[in-house]
Amino acid sequence: MNILVATAEISPIAKAGGLADIVRYLSLYWEKLGHKSIVVLPKYQFIDCNYWGFKPTDLILYVPISHWVEFARLWEGKLPDTNVSIYLVENNDYFSRLGIYGEPEEYHDNDRRFIFFSRSIFETAKALKFKPDIIHSHDYHTAFTMAFLKSQYRYDPLFSSTAGVYTIHNLAYQGIFDPTRAMEFSTFGMKEFYPGSWFEHNGLVNSMKVGIMFADKITTVSPNYADEIRNPYFGEGLSNVLSLRGADLIGILNGVNYDEWNPENDQNLFFNFSIKNLIEGKKNNKIEFLRSFGVPPDENYELPLIGSVTRLTEQKGIDLLLYCLETHLENNWFRFALLGSGERKYEDYFHYLQWKFPTKALVHLGYSNTLAHRIIGCSDFLILPSRFEPCGLTQMYALRYATIPIARYTGGFVNTVEEYNPITMEGTGFTFYQYNAHDMSYAISRAFQIYNQEPHWTQIRKNAMLKNFSAENSAKEYLKVFQWALEKIGRKVDIE
Ligand code: ADP
Ligand code: GLC
Repeated sequence: MNILVATAEISPIAKAGGLADIVRYLSLYWEKLGHKSIVVLPKYQFIDCNYWGFKPTDLILYVPISHWVEFARLWEGKLPDTNVSIYLVENNDYFSRLGIYGEPEEYHDNDRRFIFFSRSIFETAKALKFKPDIIHSHDYHTAFTMAFLKSQYRYDPLFSSTAGVYTIHNLAYQGIFDPTRAMEFSTFGMKEFYPGSWFEHNGLVNSMKVGIMFADKITTVSPNYADEIRNPYFGEGLSNVLSLRGADLIGILNGVNYDEWNPENDQNLFFNFSIKNLIEGKKNNKIEFLRSFGVPPDENYELPLIGSVTRLTEQKGIDLLLYCLETHLENNWFRFALLGSGERKYEDYFHYLQWKFPTKALVHLGYSNTLAHRIIGCSDFLILPSRFEPCGLTQMYALRYATIPIARYTGGFVNTVEEYNPITMEGTGFTFYQYNAHDMSYAISRAFQIYNQEPHWTQIRKNAMLKNFSAENSAKEYLKVFQWALEKIGRKVDIE
């Protein structure tokens, strides 16, 4: 199958969150399964083309915007360590800026930037003479591709037998724009904007709704989130729209590339380990990790270490941590290691916490892939109090490293973390349902009982390491959805 992937992120080249990892993993496994995918990404200023081996082509795109045409140059390269082609769309007015979405606030012209980019996907395929079976778009940034496919490009021979699949990674970011701008830039014009039209939501253009309404099939990143978002509480104002398209909405669990997240050969760890030497492996890594943060050797290294690697936003349940961390650290209950960046008020709080507890709050504000692997690999527990979580990846990474998740029972955590049952000795983590700090603290206390009790502590860690959430399964599930999308437009394609 030929798959054209439209995305604002792909790791390791441009990453703000889990979207980047998943787009990478899917392309990588589709390639291994014998399919051809081409990934199209904006050429952001921070992409080091020399380092990643991107070269300019002499292909110039003519991208219709409003009543005029704008230009872009294509750059080409490969997804590192694979044969997957990546094309970068170069337009310096739009993309030669510090951030992906904004730095730190969202760019005021994200409507125009991402509508331009969405349109350039088609022009890229035309320039490359690439005839896609599927256009696969991710999140609001590339949602307009679904509308372009069904209108401006519908009769173009290159796309007349292409189906559109739209994946929601996070319903909270919808790309809500001023209609006079967005309808004009997208060339649909205000005639297509009226109450109840596929572009309109509460009087504004809603890109997420555009993607949902125009796609042949819609996926989201875990089966449980696919159920949750049909309800107003999780639907972010779009639950009716999602229910309307409910028959075409499917949850596919994200997965892990275990070549990148494997404690047996992870170069970021202090010591590699496997299930066979898990007890010393974990212990030695934890000791070295604590030393690397300057925790003096005379301090109690046995204290449980709870880690967190996260964007510092309300979604991630940081407020629950704010509510109780200080008291828990004061009571010497555990040590806390955080790697994160995001909202100023949260960053300020963690600065303060680090100042107050220099050997108990081990904080790094910023972005670091090495430290992400270390915290996930060296901690005893990973805390995940999210208010909502479409899927979440770090809990799946953590399991493979025998780091036990303590997670709120929501979204993808429901599909990936099972409460440990000391009677059957089954389960991989600890969960709490209500969004409050007391319930979270109670889950932590249950976790610590197990931490202090053999054979349970070894058993739960073995259970965790043996879980398999390989992204290869996710890639295969997407292929099935692609097949259904093609059937929907009257094509029969056998993916085997
Ligand atoms: P989300 O996409 O909502 O942020 P996920 O759990 O799906 O949540 O994915 C987060 C990804 O970003 C993981 O790969 C995680 O390791 C990584 N990550 C988050 N914060 C940082 C950071 N400060 N430094 C390095 N990696 C980070
Ligand atoms: C989003 C979600 C996260 C998910 C990721 C990748 O950023 O917040 O839960 O794992 O996308 O799909």
